[in-house]
Amino acid sequence: MAQNRLYVQSLDKRFAKHGVVHPYDNGEIGTSRRGRPPFWFRYPCRVGFRYPRAVLPLRAVFRGQRVVLRAPRVSDAPRIVEIRSRSRAFLEPWVPVPAPDEFDIDLARARILRDRRDIRADRHYRFCMTVGEEGPVIGRVALTQVFRGIFQNAYLGYWVDVEHHGQGFTTEGVKLALDVAFREIGLHRVQAAIMPQNAASLAVARKCGLRQEGCAARYIQIAGAWQDHLLFAVTAEDWQAAAR
Ligand SMILES: CC(C)(COP(=O)(O)OP(=O)(O)OC[C@H]1O[C@@H](n2cnc3c(N)ncnc32)[C@H](O)[C@@H]1OP(=O)(O)O)[C@@H](O)C(=O)NCCC(=O)NCCS
Repeated sequence: MAQNRLYVQSLDKRFAKHGVVHPYDNGEIGTSRRGRPPFWFRYPCRVGFRYPRAVLPLRAVFRGQRVVLRAPRVSDAPRIVEIRSRSRAFLEPWVPVPAPDEFDIDLARARILRDRRDIRADRHYRFCMTVGEEGPVIGRVALTQVFRGIFQNAYLGYWVDVEHHGQGFTTEGVKLALDVAFREIGLHRVQAAIMPQNAASLAVARKCGLRQEGCAARYIQIAGAWQDHLLFAVTAEDWQAAAR
């Protein structure tokens, strides 16, 4: 097994030289049961260059007019816990039942480390939204469950501090995140699911160019109950056309 890990790492280096990482390398696969890398892993050019995986540096910072998106830092933990705690009642009707790490600084630090690993592994991009580059965190915008191969899709999620809502920050942050999704990490599609009663979130989605595609009954468990959701999506083609 140790040998195979080395093989995976050396391939990683080869891909890194070209600015891409093998699309199927999630750090676990890449070895067959016989202990030898399977065919598609030994000849990565066949698939690797068709579906490149993103390698977004953790220090990357994306600047909008007022809002900045960046990877979370361990030093953000107290601030995230603070805004999450004071926004608890505001967020409760619209987000999944919160995990304990949202209200405990030590757990939040561990969670941030996981978030950073997820970014490096091209799994989930849970950005912090700040006002100005060195400003305080005011919310999160996330592209999660990145699916590569023939789907190239991620799910969009966002929330903002109760003291900062209604000022256009999330709209700006989501537009930045979509730009990152299509231009930086090479996704083809971003989708979101929003409860029909969530007027603020529906407004954000529509302002950011997401189009309603349908409705899913009892889709996600929010505030402890299975809730119907409207399904929204935007593709790279829509995004390019809107930018022109
Ligand atoms: C949804 C949320 C992120 C929006 O954040 P925000 O920073 O207030 O968003 P913005 O200020 O960019 O835009 C909000 C828009 O919603 C509109 N809006 C807000 N409340 C509204 C309401 N009750 N009815 C209709 N429109 C409403 C605002 O007028 C604004 O549109 P405008 O700029 O055209 O006037 C925030 O309300 C939030 O965190 N909600 C709880 C978590 C959540 O719902 N997450 C999304 C789950 S799908």
